[in-house]
Amino acid sequence: MELKGINKEIMAKIEKKELTIEMIAVSTAEELVAQIEIEEKDAKKVIKTAQEELGIQPMTALKFLEHESKRGKITTSSTEFDSILGGGIWTQELTEVAGSFGSGKTQLCFQLCLNVQLPVEEGGLGGNAFFIDTERTFSPRRVVEIASYRDFDVEEALSNIFIGAALNTHHLFSIVDELDEVIKEKNIKLLIVDSFASHFRSEFIGKGRLVERQQKIMQIAEKLIALAVKYDLAVVVTNQIIANVEEFLFGSPEEPALGFAWAHRPQQRIFLRKSRGSSRIARLFDSSRMPEREALFYVTESGLSDAPFSSDFYS
Ligand code: GTP
Ligand code: MG
Repeated sequence: MELKGINKEIMAKIEKKELTIEMIAVSTAEELVAQIEIEEKDAKKVIKTAQEELGIQPMTALKFLEHESKRGKITTSSTEFDSILGGGIWTQELTEVAGSFGSGKTQLCFQLCLNVQLPVEEGGLGGNAFFIDTERTFSPRRVVEIASYRDFDVEEALSNIFIGAALNTHHLFSIVDELDEVIKEKNIKLLIVDSFASHFRSEFIGKGRLVERQQKIMQIAEKLIALAVKYDLAVVVTNQIIANVEEFLFGSPEEPALGFAWAHRPQQRIFLRKSRGSSRIARLFDSSRMPEREALFYVTESGLSDAPFSSDFYS
């Protein structure tokens, strides 16, 4: 780590405590003083420098561009899909993947759990994945299958994926609240919640509980975004689809669940739908960075890809 203008002595203390730039940038001066025993004025300077480095201090657009170009991306294994996302799934933000059953949300998550482990030159982040499973859909067998097609060391790849089963929303909160340690210790660069929507939709039923539900969703969204920024990791959550009864706002009779308040939280929103055979269409429909565009990809035996697997050809 490099913090311009900070002396060696302070940098050594920071390194000894294994603090990252992200952790420093979101600390208060008091917290930093307590952790590394420096003067308060130095702590303030260190925090400001870290914030500048991360681009969360006012800055010119040119500096912002430089900062953005350094952010990590995880490949989806489909070049077309990556291209509509601006290079893959980005760190430091929350990406929502919505789609009906069988549209490929979980398959994409499995693929990302492996791809995040690749070196940067190959589209990964050289890090590990934490998969919060709310529906018991994590399939080691399927991950093994994809990993073995892709030349991963299967055992190592599996040991780099951490799984937390969230049995209800309360449990989901408690897992998320305890993630800091494991993220630091296990070099987690991808955090997945699959499915993000299911417990909220099944536990808070009826109009009377809608406000409470929205509050909980916003709280957890804030926590996830904070983790993404603090630890420079990608957060991907999956969402279900509901009938769009009011109007065809979304250009289709379906829209992602969880309502308007949620709709503004993810920085990237992706809608997946089935197409012919094993092909799928991904639409980036709400992004501050990229235009609305669609990509065609395939879910094959070897995972996500640009082309169909031979035996999928005529299915
Ligand atoms: P829900 O969780 O039910 O909402 O759906 P989802 O969007 O998570 O669907 P998922 O990602 O589980 O996709 C399931 C689909 O992936 C299946 O219907 C298959 O089309 C495809 N799929 C899963 N495993 C394989 C496989 O081994 N080979 C091939 N070719 N396709 C597979
Ligand atoms: Mg699924």
